[in-house]
Amino acid sequence: MKKNVCLGSKKDGNPYAGTVEEGISFDTYEVTCRRLKQYDSITNPIIMGPYELISRSLVDHAKIKEGDSVLDLGSGTGITTLEILLQNPKANVIGVEQSKGMLEVANYKFHKNYGKKLLECTNDPALIKYWNEFREKSKVHKDNVEFLLNDFEEVELETQSIDYAIGGSFMHWTNLGNSFKQLKLFLKPKGKVLWSTTSHFYNDSEFPASEYGFRYNDFLAHVMDEVKKKIGKNNVKDYRNIARPKHDLESIQKISLGNGLKTEKIGTRVIHVDLQTFVQTHVPVFVKELIIPDMDESVSQKIVNESIASVINNPSALKDIKHKYDIIPIFESKKD
Ligand SMILES: C[S@@+](CC[C@H](N)C(=O)[O-])C[C@H]1O[C@@H](n2cnc3c(N)ncnc32)[C@H](O)[C@@H]1O
Repeated sequence: MKKNVCLGSKKDGNPYAGTVEEGISFDTYEVTCRRLKQYDSITNPIIMGPYELISRSLVDHAKIKEGDSVLDLGSGTGITTLEILLQNPKANVIGVEQSKGMLEVANYKFHKNYGKKLLECTNDPALIKYWNEFREKSKVHKDNVEFLLNDFEEVELETQSIDYAIGGSFMHWTNLGNSFKQLKLFLKPKGKVLWSTTSHFYNDSEFPASEYGFRYNDFLAHVMDEVKKKIGKNNVKDYRNIARPKHDLESIQKISLGNGLKTEKIGTRVIHVDLQTFVQTHVPVFVKELIIPDMDESVSQKIVNESIASVINNPSALKDIKHKYDIIPIFESKKD
């Protein structure tokens, strides 16, 4: 795939490099995940992608009023943006997004371009259907949103101008202290940020990642056993080394308070991650992280494919039914 890096993040580990393809694959992931029903409550199945589901939880908790200014942090392909406007059609939204590619998709989904570049790169019918439905819903809201291409940690906005900020799956890609500092500057007094993070960053005391997190599914251990057979056990790290969450509520509260905002956890969303998504999307990335030393991309891809193929039909590799969730905490940070 052509890499056309336009505006990369300066921060380590942030995968959002700026290509149009990245915006397309982000939305493809959202659409693919919809095949797995999520549950609104025990009896209420809803068909939503994970980012839409998280966005809804965040916006549900905000008490946005007519005419409020709402900042959409890391607005990506506009999924959270639409959720804000569906629930609050009279709000004015500013999306700040550092990836030109993600923004290109958001601008198409909000009728701010004709999607020429995107539509040249994909003809996936499920994705195009999703975009068409999205554009149908966003049409009446397009003038209530402005997207800015910028790094949130550096962007200059009017001070004390924002009533609410919504950060869907965003804060963990930034330096938390810098983001809180910026938020304190831009929020009006009593302004709030509703934000979510992810189970490779935050260890939720109710649903510890080591007990429930999909990243620790035994399937990966079986794949790594196959990898060991191919390249030797000394060239492979322990599968439990995968992205351990470094933060808990206390550490988050400390950083937030140190930068002028008071943070509480107000809920947790537990999202199913199905095995097919895990195998296709995550396992290849994890295996590459666990191979020492770094290998040529085509060699590692071959090892990944062959190792997955040898365990996919092994019943004992599929036995772990506990580690299959992404655990998403929802936080509210307030300015005095
Ligand atoms: C996981 S996506 C979530 C997108 C969107 N909020 C949603 O819920 O669908 C995270 C987004 O944050 C953006 N991002 C990461 N660091 C950023 C920064 N420092 N400034 C602006 N955007 C950033 C990424 O480019 C990416 O589009």
